[in-house]
Amino acid sequence: MKLKTKDLLTLAELTPKEFLGLIDDSIKLKKELKKGGNKPVLKNKTLTMIFQKPSTRTRVSFEIGMFQLGGHTINLSSNDTQLSRGESIEDTAKTLSRYTDCIMARVYDHELLQKLSAHSSVPVINGLSDSFHPCQILADFMTIQEKKKKLKGLKIAWIGDGNNVCNSMIYGAALSGIDMSIATPKGYEPDKSVVKEAKKSANIELTVDPFTATKNADVVVTDTYSSIHNKDPKRIKKFLPKYQVNPKLMKSAKKDAIFLHCLPAKREQEVTSSVLDGNQSVIWDEAENRLHSQKALLISLIHA
Ligand code: CP
Ligand code: NVA
Repeated sequence: MKLKTKDLLTLAELTPKEFLGLIDDSIKLKKELKKGGNKPVLKNKTLTMIFQKPSTRTRVSFEIGMFQLGGHTINLSSNDTQLSRGESIEDTAKTLSRYTDCIMARVYDHELLQKLSAHSSVPVINGLSDSFHPCQILADFMTIQEKKKKLKGLKIAWIGDGNNVCNSMIYGAALSGIDMSIATPKGYEPDKSVVKEAKKSANIELTVDPFTATKNADVVVTDTYSSIHNKDPKRIKKFLPKYQVNPKLMKSAKKDAIFLHCLPAKREQEVTSSVLDGNQSVIWDEAENRLHSQKALLISLIHA
């Protein structure tokens, strides 16, 4: 899919056609891999990854994805670079651009990614910031498309914290014509400007009642109450027991609703093991789809 954007920081950079095109490409790449392997279309290309925060899925899926496309990955913990000794992100961006074909960064402050993107001549991918997680949403919507055979007209219920993943999911909903109902405690709503922007092209409802959100929902989603950047252990009390996805809440959604979670999950907090491991859960396909959807993204950005 040819993209107009150089970088992917939020999903707002994409048009609906580009977003849906990336999902189509992801599904094709998955089939190609399962038939025997992907073509080495990123031969001799490199991806440099910078991690300020821990990761399992993002790191491994990007690394293996590049390998399966014939490319190579370099993984940097930000502590091991001169960033830790005060070299600016601007100078780091300019330096890395002279070596590598693409940069993926997982950071705390989203502004750091914006600076990285402004000063890099190569594409920059957000591998999660405190504010957004666009790569997760590419995989999530690919998973919904696979399971439901469509996107437009569906309803997603988001339960719990209106966090970085939720912000990106709202953009995903707007790009694909999905309705979204978001149930959070007061004070834990998603980003106001994201909601305002998305409301121009999708029905985005905010509520404090999880059962309002799950009514007629095709997809039920939650995420941890304690994201990596939220260190206060007391915040969990604001969510439990009301915002837990458990069998009773799942029953209030459509009978054939699917359950998504970006993982890692805190079992018995935001979701019970009975739901995570139950027959409506598609979390392992969702985790796998990070691999396929990021390949589609890498090919589009690096070959632009
Ligand atoms: N979902 C996700 O981004 O997982 P990691 O934190 O393990 O990369
Ligand atoms: N909201 C979580 C997502 C982890 C993949 C976090 O930011 O820690």
